[in-house]
Amino acid sequence: MEIKKDVYWIGHIDWNVRDFHGYETDRGSTYNSYLIKDEKVAVIDAVKAPYASELLQNVAALVSFDAVDYVVCNHAEPDHSGGIPALMKACLNAELVCNAKCKDILSKHYDTTGWNWHVVADGETLSLGSRTLAFMNTPMAHWPESMATYVPEEKLLFSMDGFGQHYATSGRFDDEVPFEDLMFEAKTYYANIIMLYGSAIQKVLAKAANHEIEMIAPSHGVIWRTHIDKIVAAYDRWSRHVPSPKVLVFYDSMWKSTDMMAQAIVEGAMIDGVEVKMFDVKSTHITTLATESLDASAIAVGSPTLNKSLMPKVAEALTYLRGLSPEGKCGVAFGSYGWAKKGGQHAVQDYLEQMKVELIRETPIQSQYVPNAEILEECRNAGRELAEKSLNVVKEAQ
Ligand code: FEO
Repeated sequence: MEIKKDVYWIGHIDWNVRDFHGYETDRGSTYNSYLIKDEKVAVIDAVKAPYASELLQNVAALVSFDAVDYVVCNHAEPDHSGGIPALMKACLNAELVCNAKCKDILSKHYDTTGWNWHVVADGETLSLGSRTLAFMNTPMAHWPESMATYVPEEKLLFSMDGFGQHYATSGRFDDEVPFEDLMFEAKTYYANIIMLYGSAIQKVLAKAANHEIEMIAPSHGVIWRTHIDKIVAAYDRWSRHVPSPKVLVFYDSMWKSTDMMAQAIVEGAMIDGVEVKMFDVKSTHITTLATESLDASAIAVGSPTLNKSLMPKVAEALTYLRGLSPEGKCGVAFGSYGWAKKGGQHAVQDYLEQMKVELIRETPIQSQYVPNAEILEECRNAGRELAEKSLNVVKEAQ
């Protein structure tokens, strides 16, 4: 598939992948590899190892293996580098182009015996003839060795994981798929893969701003050519953790007591101008919770006490979120207990403190067994406070 004259997409569409190390990929994914035919031939990134033979077929359909001069590895994670050993074995004249950190990581993943390395520094360029590859280190977007490759003559940026989506489609471009679906997948991808690396993304955006860009070709999902301004603006917003007036409530419940408290918090939070979303973790995947947390300015998390601690599904969600490090939120812990008052709700509160959530109560809101009217009123008050704070946080951010 030619994406620009003599620039080809040669990747793999993974229609069936549904788990990407814990991230539920409802719409599958793609591993995007590209080939540029010039006086020299370059392959930019590869695919996951199981799809290496398809990648080789795609290369062979365009050029002979001996004609490949460069295999550029922008990122050593195996969803992109897994096909490189097969590529290097087939393309005997090719040099593996990457930065020094990437060389080190590739050497710890694969048998690289016999590879011809071409190690590049940040800002270094490589001529293909009428086109140039300009390398741009983008550390921690997504791994320490992450790099992007820019082709100035084409105004084309190979952005690696950045601007990607886990989105398997027959369309290869952003204007060939429903825009709402695309932005939903881009947001889900950002929240679940990139959220932790917001400051690194800010640096990438600053570097990219120095270049004219007409096309962004990421390593997952569709290529941006029509909505570049929209995805760049969204990345700027997401990476600065710009809050929305939104209260997120998630919880688990055994005998409905914590559920009643969650409902009361939602009732209190439903004021004008604030979006409220509630999820029972039993029926909601952590992928959704991460996406919903990205722009929420307040979170309320509930768990009953189970065996002196919190419910496993709440622990799973909080462990996942703590790792992704959402920023700038206020919140509250709540739930019911029977005989272990220091149990589940305090464990939730510990998580929220570790996530640097600004707590609106010094101690969790607790109910022994079924919540009475007074406790439910306190839940409504907490919900209202979260919503009001949410509005204030958004006003202050403007
Ligand atoms: Fe798609 Fe960080 O690999």
